Amino acid sequence: MKWMGLNELRESYLKFFESKGHLRMQSFPLVPPADDNSILLINAGMTPLKKFFQGIEEPPRHRVTTCQKCIRTPDIENVGHTSRHGTYFEMLGNFSFGDYFKHEAISWAWEYLTKVLEIPEEKLWVTIYEEDDEAGDIWANEIGVPRDRIVKLGKADNFWEHGSGPCGPCSEIHFDRGEKYGPLNSFEEAEENDRIIEIWNNVFTQFDNDGKGNYTQLATKNIDTGMGLERLACVMQGVDNLFEVDTVKNIMGKICSIIGVNYHDDEKKDISIRVITDHIRSTTFMVGDGILPSNEGRGYVLRRLLRRAARHGRLLGYHKAFLYEVCDTVIDENLSAYPELGEKRAYIKKVIQTEEESFSKTIDKGTEILGEMIENLKKSGEKTLKGEDVFKLHDTYGFPVDLTKEILHENGFEADEDGFAECMKVQKQTARENKKLGGGWDNAKNSELDKLTTEFVGYDTLECATKILAITKNGEIADLCGQGDEIGVVIEKTPFYAEMGGQVGDRGSICKGSLSVSARLFRADFPPAIP
Ligand code: ALA
Repeated sequence: MKWMGLNELRESYLKFFESKGHLRMQSFPLVPPADDNSILLINAGMTPLKKFFQGIEEPPRHRVTTCQKCIRTPDIENVGHTSRHGTYFEMLGNFSFGDYFKHEAISWAWEYLTKVLEIPEEKLWVTIYEEDDEAGDIWANEIGVPRDRIVKLGKADNFWEHGSGPCGPCSEIHFDRGEKYGPLNSFEEAEENDRIIEIWNNVFTQFDNDGKGNYTQLATKNIDTGMGLERLACVMQGVDNLFEVDTVKNIMGKICSIIGVNYHDDEKKDISIRVITDHIRSTTFMVGDGILPSNEGRGYVLRRLLRRAARHGRLLGYHKAFLYEVCDTVIDENLSAYPELGEKRAYIKKVIQTEEESFSKTIDKGTEILGEMIENLKKSGEKTLKGEDVFKLHDTYGFPVDLTKEILHENGFEADEDGFAECMKVQKQTARENKKLGGGWDNAKNSELDKLTTEFVGYDTLECATKILAITKNGEIADLCGQGDEIGVVIEKTPFYAEMGGQVGDRGSICKGSLSVSARLFRADFPPAIP
């Protein structure tokens, strides 16, 4: 078994399955297909292929192989604190839609690991679903794995499903990393010590779960496999964790060189270095796939990751925007498989830099005020920060509530989440009332807007070419906005007319090329003079 780089490994896997008649497809975007609202972000290789498993759509071929970009954030708070957790990873997969089944999936997995990658057979263990004797017999009789290295496990471990959709019993392949991780008294103990790690999951996809626990047989028997590329790279590179893998290490190297720190010098700093390394990988790909920072949905996941990374830059003593520079290394390390990142380089960097800069205006003040609040909690002996204070940080200083909670936890405190939710409710109500009055932004907070003027051209025409002078969102000037955002725009010229003293505004649309959005005049500071 020889050392292999992450990019080389990806290519070798895809080539192997091409040689077995599979169609190689590009990774699908991180944004799920429009008709799948069961998840915010793609989290497994099979997710974008659900329709082929369900027989709703005909696949381009019945054997497909991919290396899929994935994001999983439920463990986001552990990222950095351990070297095991990450939010971004790539999943290698070979899929059969009603074509081959257990025999081929098992024997090709074994052939790839032991013949192509030359992993010694005695280092591999397999697990099967406790009722799946068929898979057990294939491993023992056809492949020759000793029965004592075939472990039977229950539904919690060896039945794969992720919410609703195609699922089934599975058989995993595990790798033994040897003595230095502890003794090998039992499979369970060795797994607990991270001596034995799972590398490949072969799912025998036969059922469809309706999300309420009702299983129906799919029309065909299918194969869905998943192998974490970074995990496999750890095995092939003989390293302990994701952050030591060649391409990931180069990203970390760039961070350390910009900031002027060394990895492994100080455990506390290492946490920050790992957070930034992981989050900049996720966010570069998310922006590349068209996600923009916002306050909800996947836009919020992106914002949270970027802000968390930016804060850790500060914890390392670096106070300038820098994440956008690290993007270059993320893009360069991934160009061979994702050439589109190169084409979108300037755009990705711009989005990340804009978010970083807007956050840096708020983070210093917010951190200082939260620091004072924590000091006061310590003095008073209380354990929970009041909802109004959490709200004040969020509303007045733009300090994200997740970050407040995280910093409080780091210091042994909690946030009063119910109190915060109550303050948010009141604020929403007030905003709704303000909106009824037609107010789009608060002049006091946005004095730059006062300097802009709009020429009214509606006496002669109902449409005109114009320029956008400013965009506002949530009552403030915004540099960027995302799909679905409700925004205000200040334009150079407009035919929209304010009637009834400005109470009722004309409606129409603003277009560029084939793009068109509906618009309403909600603010007319120019008096439409009577001609
Ligand atoms: N869908 C399976 C997994 O994600 C292969 O592990």
